[in-house]
Amino acid sequence: MTRSSNSTAPGLVPGLIRRLGPRDADGFAAHLLRLDAEARASRFGGLVSDAALHDHALLALAGGAVVLGYVEDGVLRGVGELHDQPGSSPSAAEAAVSVEAGWQGRGIGSKLMRRVLSAATARGIRRVVVVCQSSNRMMRRLAGHFDARLEIVGTETTGHLTTPAATPLRLLRVAVSDGFDLAAENVERQARLFLATLPDRAA
Ligand SMILES: CC(C)(COP(=O)(O)OP(=O)(O)OC[C@H]1O[C@@H](n2cnc3c(N)ncnc32)[C@H](O)[C@@H]1OP(=O)(O)O)[C@@H](O)C(=O)NCCC(=O)NCCS
Repeated sequence: MTRSSNSTAPGLVPGLIRRLGPRDADGFAAHLLRLDAEARASRFGGLVSDAALHDHALLALAGGAVVLGYVEDGVLRGVGELHDQPGSSPSAAEAAVSVEAGWQGRGIGSKLMRRVLSAATARGIRRVVVVCQSSNRMMRRLAGHFDARLEIVGTETTGHLTTPAATPLRLLRVAVSDGFDLAAENVERQARLFLATLPDRAA
C-alpha cells in the first residue's frame, strides 16, 4: 500500500535527508527489513535473507559507500546508496534507492537520487549505473528524471546516468549539505524530544 502526501497526516517533524554513518547501521538494517518482499527483491535483484540485509547495512556504512537516508520522526524511511566501482575508468559507481511502501510516490526516491548524484560529482565520479528489474516501472520512471539511458537485457535493466558537472557552486552545495545534515539531525532530535513532552501529543 502506498500513501500520498495529501492522504496521510505528515510526520510531526518534517522529514530530512542526511548522510548516514556507522552508528546508523541498525536503523539502516531495520529500514531494509521493513521493505516488503517485492521491494526487497527489486532492491537486491532477488531473494535476500534478513542476515544478508544486516551485513549489507554494516558493510555499506563501514566501507567507502556514500549512504544518504530520509529520516521522518526519527525513523529511516528511505535510503540512497552510492557504491564505487573500483578500477573503472573514468571512475564510475553504482547507485541504489529504497523507499518504504507507505512513503513511496512522494518524491523521496527522486530527492535521494539527486543527492546521490551530487555526492558522486563531489567524488569526481562521472558515470553512475542503476540496475533494476525490467518490470520495475517506478525505478525506470525515476531514472528517466535524470536522463538515464536505459539498457534492457532480458529481465534486467541498467540505467546509465551522467553526473552533473562539478561547478564550484555545486561542490559548495554538497559541502554545505554535509555540514547542514549534522545540524539538522540535532534540531530534529531536539524537536522530537520537545514534542514528546507535550501533554496532548497523542490527542
Ligand atoms: C523505486 C523507488 C525507490 C521509488 O521511490 P519513490 O519515493 O516512490 O520515488 P518518487 O516518489 O520519486 O517517484 C518516482 C516515480 O515512480 C512513480 N511512482 C511512485 N510510486 C508509485 C506507485 N505506487 N504507482 C505508480 N507509480 C509510482 C512516481 O509517479 C514517479 O514517476 P513520475 O515522477 O514520472 O510520476 C521505490 O519504489 C522503491 O523503493 N522500490 C523498491 C526498491 C527498488 O526497486 N529500488 C530500485 C532498484 S535499486
